[in-house]
Amino acid sequence: MRFSSTVPISLAGLALTSLCGATPSPWLFQQKIFQGTNQLAHKLEQAVSGAHDHAHAHDEAGCAARHAQPAETLQSDGSVGVYSDWTGQSVAVEDETTADAVYAGFGSFAHLPMMNCLASDAPFDIGFIGMPLDTATSYRPGARFGPMGIRQGSRRLRLYGGYNVPLDVNPFSSWAKIVDCGDVSATSYDTAKAIQQIEQGHKRALHRTAKATSKSIVSGKGDDFYVKEAEGFGLGGRIHPRIISLGGDHSITLPILRSITSAYGPVSVIHFDSHLDTWKPRVFGGSKSETAAVNHGTYFYHASKEGLIRNGTSIHAGIRTTLSGPQDYENDEECGFKLHEAREIDTIGTQGFIDAIKSTVKDTPVYLSIDIDVLDPSAAPATGTPETGGWSTRELRTILRGLEGVNIVGADLVEVAPAYDTPAEITQIAAADILFEVMSLMVKAGPLTK
Ligand SMILES: *[C@@H]1O[C@H](CO)[C@@H](O)[C@H](O)[C@H]1NC(C)=O
Repeated sequence: MRFSSTVPISLAGLALTSLCGATPSPWLFQQKIFQGTNQLAHKLEQAVSGAHDHAHAHDEAGCAARHAQPAETLQSDGSVGVYSDWTGQSVAVEDETTADAVYAGFGSFAHLPMMNCLASDAPFDIGFIGMPLDTATSYRPGARFGPMGIRQGSRRLRLYGGYNVPLDVNPFSSWAKIVDCGDVSATSYDTAKAIQQIEQGHKRALHRTAKATSKSIVSGKGDDFYVKEAEGFGLGGRIHPRIISLGGDHSITLPILRSITSAYGPVSVIHFDSHLDTWKPRVFGGSKSETAAVNHGTYFYHASKEGLIRNGTSIHAGIRTTLSGPQDYENDEECGFKLHEAREIDTIGTQGFIDAIKSTVKDTPVYLSIDIDVLDPSAAPATGTPETGGWSTRELRTILRGLEGVNIVGADLVEVAPAYDTPAEITQIAAADILFEVMSLMVKAGPLTK
């Protein structure tokens, strides 16, 4: 996975070069590379990469020094050297084959290393895993393409290196081993079977010891976090990796919670959504069969009945759906949730939501479930059941970042249906950026220890 470790560094360098006084050339380079498919084009690509791997300083002195380098001809063997591009800028060349641009590559989430977690027991700390299921949707189908859509939206996350400014953490260069696990197989012909497959796949990824536990101790935070012999949040004190699931329609959260509770016992849920999703099957979908009773509007009802959710320490935020009647809210409370409607943001603000969420979940293990339809359709049109009157990406990201200190043991982002997105991919990008905040929170929190 040389590709994934070198790309962000070199691209960070590209960005820094752009800050220098002289005319920056990387984008011209890349256009040129696009046009040419010959060997020279590859060398040019490597040249851009190599030159800026070494560009750590973005002060003027650093820029001047690079521009002062002697212009030499490209080495025919591609080894480290210096050559001059058509703007007169000198560019070092490194003997390295990389996919050099964030729009290229293997398509993993944020260019993370790929690891088939379903076929390997190798340890990791955070794993993204796709759950391509959409046969339990009520309105627009299409979320089976969500995992790939979110990955597509995530391509640019590391363009400048991936440092999260407000949270002061870089999840891509930290104590955590973060991987893209690929997708769970979920049959599109039998939803009940697919739900079982998702539970099995999630368990397979989750039930291993996190990589961080094998580190020798000490302490620290942010990028220098090492675990001591601390007790994990898992049953029996285990430290599990954190799985971030890419939906898929929201019914995937039921089998995921079955898996999560097998590692942690019942959890609190923080649920960002415009809909309750605790509806009784009779109310939502009409309960026409056992399979029909489990759908993307009823999964929390089942989760509550199965005892997967702690009573009273779970919360919905962003609700603005119509109801069958006020009794839906009563039923919701019986399922163990507190509730804050989207419109409350006008009075209590983002901080009001942060405070409400934190005081509800306290120090319990928390599962975070984000339906992209919590955002306004102007920010996220590509979803199964859009509801106007939602939040902006800025508001949701602010609330998420405010959850520092919450014990998030796993997360999902669901209901991205790329077919309804704009050519600008705004939903897919919003989804990826939201998960960047979630991943940053997890890294900043350190391994899952008490
Ligand atoms: C949760 O607690 C409330 C209030 O005590 C109760 O009415 C409800 O039945 C409980 N729900 C579950 C799922 O235990």
